[in-house]
Amino acid sequence: MEGVFRRHRLLLTFLCCLMAALLLTILWYPDHFSTSRKGTQQSGIEGDIIQHEESALFSPKALDVQDIPPASVTHKPDPPTGKPPKLEKPSKPKSPGSLAPNRTEVNEALYPDTTVEKEWISIEDSSNGLTLARRTVYYDTRSSFSPSVVIIVLHNHEKQPNLPKLYAKVTGQSSCSAVEHWKQTGNVVKSPWYEVTLSHVYRIQLNQRPESIQLSKDSQCNKLLPLMPVFKAKEVKKKYTFTTCIQKALYDDIQPAEVVNFIELNRALGSSMITIYFHRNLKAKDAIYKAIETYIKTGYVEVLGWSLVDGWLGQVFDVALSASATECVYRHMAISEYMALHDVDEFLIPMKHEDWFGMLNELKNKNDLSKYASLSFANSLFQEKEEAGPKMECVVPIYFKRYLRDDNPKTSHPKVMVNLNITITAYCHDIKTWKDGAEKELLVPFEIGLLFHYRKQLGHRVNVAQRWKHDTIVNKYMDTVIAALRKNSCITK
Ligand SMILES: *[C@@H]1O[C@H](CO)[C@@H](O)[C@H](O)[C@H]1NC(C)=O
Ligand SMILES: *[C@@H]1O[C@H](CO)[C@@H](O)[C@H](O)[C@H]1NC(C)=O
Repeated sequence: MEGVFRRHRLLLTFLCCLMAALLLTILWYPDHFSTSRKGTQQSGIEGDIIQHEESALFSPKALDVQDIPPASVTHKPDPPTGKPPKLEKPSKPKSPGSLAPNRTEVNEALYPDTTVEKEWISIEDSSNGLTLARRTVYYDTRSSFSPSVVIIVLHNHEKQPNLPKLYAKVTGQSSCSAVEHWKQTGNVVKSPWYEVTLSHVYRIQLNQRPESIQLSKDSQCNKLLPLMPVFKAKEVKKKYTFTTCIQKALYDDIQPAEVVNFIELNRALGSSMITIYFHRNLKAKDAIYKAIETYIKTGYVEVLGWSLVDGWLGQVFDVALSASATECVYRHMAISEYMALHDVDEFLIPMKHEDWFGMLNELKNKNDLSKYASLSFANSLFQEKEEAGPKMECVVPIYFKRYLRDDNPKTSHPKVMVNLNITITAYCHDIKTWKDGAEKELLVPFEIGLLFHYRKQLGHRVNVAQRWKHDTIVNKYMDTVIAALRKNSCITK
């Protein structure tokens, strides 16, 4: 034994020196070492992006689902912009309980004052699966359900088939209670598109609206996750009849004029309020924000941050539309009867009536609408071919330039108006869960209402229609919309 040591004395001395040096380095830079470890363990946001982007788990396949964005848009890394992106502040990871300050105004985390930490809470990091929760939670007092705090959760089912068991402490109370898994939005899909991260709603049945809650993964609530404020709906004297939600966060190269033109046509249709999400890779976010600031200031439009990182969670379908569409249901349930839910290039057009009010009356006369959780509008796609459009100094809205639409609207890719009384979770073309005993949807007759869809580039879909019909029905909104654009937010380029 001694001989062995003597023979390797030189080597041993060297190893000892090496270990001492390493120890000294750790002692010298403790922050660096603990930070990088906790960084992955906790929110893991930045770490996971790289991991997922490099592993290129997402393999977009040829799809005919009309609403899936080009793969290059959702799944490529953010382009360098020269400016630090507004939506994510690189923050020093801290211990779970102190990830963000104890602020309850987080539900006012509207753009531009938003951060990843204000928007999301990491429940499971990538070593245990990937699960996160929307930071703001909602108090659901609708008469169709038990009064509950509702939590929106995104979970990667490929990494971890089992959903996490959650517990919660209501701020101000000492008890720790189990959180009930309420509903799932849709199912895991691997073909023809890939979606393994689904959104879920969890709930805590409670008779009174709390100010905030804190989740925990242990049944004793020994370790609490950051505070989650309970959303406070704005006060409205009388419930609105209609509001609008852009179901999918705006991303990539959406332009200010598109958003302004979207807002004004919806207003002409009868919408009383609009919610819009800004994805972190939305290139023109500052310009869009500036263009719609007047609407935001009056409360007509609310903008929420959607700082989901591409590739985070792996395979988030359509920038996690299932979570944003569902969140909108809870943001709007207290203020409106119906919520139009679709993309920024889509409009629900009354074919016979002046606006949504007239259309709803006709539908009401023929049906008991209270039993339908949604109204479904068949999708009529417009040709790319453009006409001159009206003379105006603002950017001419696409809907006043394209008049050739598919005369065979697709009921396979509809968009919906959500009945906010009885809908629980919403998705791209339909709602996914609703009150027991109610009907999922009423298909609106084509002669009463259609979804007008102005996809910027049709690509291979150019030949989808067997028949194209010249339809100028949208011109009934021309005077109203152009006057409003001139007055509010004329975008000239
Ligand atoms: C946040 O809340 C915790 C628990 O209630 C408390 O111990 C801590 O002091 C609070 N921090 C701030 C900054 O208010
Ligand atoms: C929602 O419920 C209220 C109260 O019961 C009712 O007056 C209203 O018509 C319902 N709206 C819809 C769209 O079902």
